[in-house]
Amino acid sequence: MGSFTDQNFEDRFKLLMKGFHKASREDRLRRVQEICGLSDSELEILSGKKTLSPDIAEHLIENVIGWFPLPLGVATYFKIDGKEVLIPLAVEETSIVAALSASAKWILEQGSIRTYNRGRLIIGQVQIPSVQNIEKAISQLGARRNELIEMANACIPGLVARGGGVRDIAIRELDQPTNEAGSTNKMLVLHVLCDPCDAMGANLINQVCEALKPKIEEISEERVGLCILSNLVDGRMAGAEVVIRNIDPKIGRGIEEAYLFAQVDPYRAATHNKGTLNGIDPVLIATGNDWRAVEAGVHAYASRNGRYEPITEWKMVGSDLVGKIEIPLSLGTVGGVTQAHPFAKIALKMMKVESADDLARICAATGLVQNLGALKALATVGIVQGHMNLHTANLAIAAGAAAHEIGFVREELSQILKKEKRINLSHAREILKSLRADASSL
Ligand code: MEV
Repeated sequence: MGSFTDQNFEDRFKLLMKGFHKASREDRLRRVQEICGLSDSELEILSGKKTLSPDIAEHLIENVIGWFPLPLGVATYFKIDGKEVLIPLAVEETSIVAALSASAKWILEQGSIRTYNRGRLIIGQVQIPSVQNIEKAISQLGARRNELIEMANACIPGLVARGGGVRDIAIRELDQPTNEAGSTNKMLVLHVLCDPCDAMGANLINQVCEALKPKIEEISEERVGLCILSNLVDGRMAGAEVVIRNIDPKIGRGIEEAYLFAQVDPYRAATHNKGTLNGIDPVLIATGNDWRAVEAGVHAYASRNGRYEPITEWKMVGSDLVGKIEIPLSLGTVGGVTQAHPFAKIALKMMKVESADDLARICAATGLVQNLGALKALATVGIVQGHMNLHTANLAIAAGAAAHEIGFVREELSQILKKEKRINLSHAREILKSLRADASSL
């Protein structure tokens, strides 16, 4: 986000964001090109004029038969840590992009978004499943910890040269579940703590752990089981804080109550967190990051106190509403498919992120802002009106409307929604049927 400080740019950004959602797709693309400095050939990829060759997909996964395209939108009006940023979102769910942009606009007018990173270390786990002599194993491994760290770093010279590498190895002692004889065996787990720089680091840490396996067996005189990263990356966290100044007290109180609901009820917390991840997963997908890893880590972290809890919190502080999020986020701007997938490369360029930490902070912010939008709607008008109004497009398409018919079907569905407070696919089919009957009788 380095060049987002220039005053001219700030004014230009505001101008280009104005009426963005009402502009034609060509116009939107032109505005994105100007804000993000995209080349004509990158624009051709985004617009679909240059199609993606299955040859690239062939190298990403197995048994390839083609691509599965998702809509790519951009969230507008985001100003994070004082810098404007356009956020690409690859997602199929109606209303996420609109809600995110509307909430970001609200914050731009009435508040601020601040973000931070805490820690840089990912975790690789090496398991000693059934320890024969626990004191001996711990003491021998502890005595040769530095040797193991050196050996680990020797496997990843490139990362070490970039300033990263294994920083520490910690030993954890775990009880195995009680066995049939009623006794418990001990399990040891070594945590290999590594700074992966701008990579998510899964491949790196898995290789390091496997490379250490024979040495760990030799030193401990025990058998090693699994060697694999942990997705609960609580050593690499990203956080954000949103403040809405002088909020309408009714809305502020409603959002606070919504948070309290999630705080005391895991059934609500699951939906609360899903709404927050609605703002994070689409950025992860657009940038080629492993959203399953993030989801697993976030949900595990949400349960760290022995109960599933919300990953955001909202409180009234005087007349202001203050929201916070802090979650494990180990993302990559290099490695994986981030540089191999043409869309991911463009998405990273669009946000002008200079590091994986930058990207993680943006994701923390989009999650918190998306959660704010959902809670505001739920605490005021409810979710149905806004969501279903946008969902009319999906219903029209599912009913079989052609491009030139979609607008009419959506308009009619909106009228029914206003009157009856509900719409479904049968309504869309009926509208389409009568539209076509009218057209053929002309
Ligand atoms: C829907 O995708 C997300 C919400 O259910 C989130 C929430 O309830 O907070 C609206």
